[in-house]
Amino acid sequence: MSVLKCFDGLVSVISDFIAREMEAVMNLNAPRGTRDILPEEAEQRRALERTFSDVCERYGFGEIRVPTFEHTELFVRGVGDASDIVRKEMYTFTDKGDRSLTLRPEGTAGVARAYVEQGMSSWPAPVKLWYNMNMFRYEKMQKGRYREFWQLGCEVFGSDSPQADAQVIGLLDTFFAELGLEEVDLEINSIGCPACRTDYHKALREYYAPNVKDMCEDCHERYERNPLRMLDCKETYCHSLAQKAPSQLDYLCDECRVHFDNVKSYLDMMEISYRLNARLVRGLDYYTKTVFEFVSSHVGTQGTICGGGRYDGLVREIGGIDVPGVGFALGVERLLLELDAQNVPAGKVQRPDLFIASFPSTAANALDLAQSLIRSGLKVETDVMGRSLKAQFKAADRMEAYYVLVLGDTEVSISRGKLRRLSDGSEQDVPLTAVGTLLHNDRKKRSVAETEEVRFEL
Ligand code: HAM
Repeated sequence: MSVLKCFDGLVSVISDFIAREMEAVMNLNAPRGTRDILPEEAEQRRALERTFSDVCERYGFGEIRVPTFEHTELFVRGVGDASDIVRKEMYTFTDKGDRSLTLRPEGTAGVARAYVEQGMSSWPAPVKLWYNMNMFRYEKMQKGRYREFWQLGCEVFGSDSPQADAQVIGLLDTFFAELGLEEVDLEINSIGCPACRTDYHKALREYYAPNVKDMCEDCHERYERNPLRMLDCKETYCHSLAQKAPSQLDYLCDECRVHFDNVKSYLDMMEISYRLNARLVRGLDYYTKTVFEFVSSHVGTQGTICGGGRYDGLVREIGGIDVPGVGFALGVERLLLELDAQNVPAGKVQRPDLFIASFPSTAANALDLAQSLIRSGLKVETDVMGRSLKAQFKAADRMEAYYVLVLGDTEVSISRGKLRRLSDGSEQDVPLTAVGTLLHNDRKKRSVAETEEVRFEL
């Protein structure tokens, strides 16, 4: 017996030693839940980010960048002290000045803080901002769930109109369409306003009361502080109870019901399909009225690619005036996984509109023409290698340029040239001053879906 005890003791000493050694080695690795982004993935991300910023700019959004860390209180008040993010997931530290700071776990609270601090309420409304920022949450690592991850997001301040809700969803729909992403489902719900939520909370408490003792620890707390969040619990028993819980939609006040009906009718008008999900509540406490998610079955258990909604009380909650808001954030890593699962290139890499082929005597003219066409918004390539005409045509082919223009001495002297379409070899004789307009018109006609295959692995 004592030999066995001795053996057990020895095993435990050795295993402690191994664990400590392992940890020492592990500490030299990237922290758990973080990832190195290597050139190939960085390229895919750039393509995504380019498409996103392009779409946002076309919808009239301007970019905002806010600090990586904020005073902890901002997230406690903004995201809500009953949320899982604030209760369990924040990277909080005390700085040398004894301030409690937190690495941003999400973007909306920081952007709303900047709205207040920078006096954006005096800007023409609505104030429309987009961002591309890394976020930090202490979460259990799994596919599509990291401790440092990136979000592309949009926030609109100053409009309480359902048109604003529909337009941010419309923006997302355009973004997904331009990426070539299909099979992403939009789920929407309305969680009402503080006025109608009181009755709903009462109804939920009544519904859960007989079973709450058997529910998970978190739900005990949610029952007291915010029973709405019980609908979102992933524990098997709690999840099964949520299926028969009363629906918020039956408790909406007139204003919230009309608002939600309008959001749905605007989506119908824009032919954006959606599924009503009365259990959709979102994990952050600032939401009011419309909430939505884009979900997919491809990203495993982390099926939510994007989440958002209206947050009419947030700006006031963090010390600003009473300004409504609506927005969303989408997870870049989940989007990349989804694109991979659907076998869609990670982004739209543009083909050149034109390749200008030249001779040594006209190389400078080609450079000059390319410069003005590029400035007009076209993608134009020209030879800077002194290659033969044949080699330049080969290069144009390899780049999949739509057109080639051969700029010789005659073309320069008469200021006309032959624009040759590479797909069918057809040629048009055009003044050089008209080339830009022609190519812009041609671009408009082409589908936006012409992309280069970029495969990726996460
Ligand atoms: P959220 O639902 O917490 O909302 O996050 C938005 C998206 O970020 C999720 O749908 C998911 O794609 C991604 N995401 C969240 N956590 C992780 C993680 N640990 N690893 C990888 N991706 C993750 C918000 O953050 C709100 N601020 C959205 C918003 C903006 N609502 C209104 N405006």
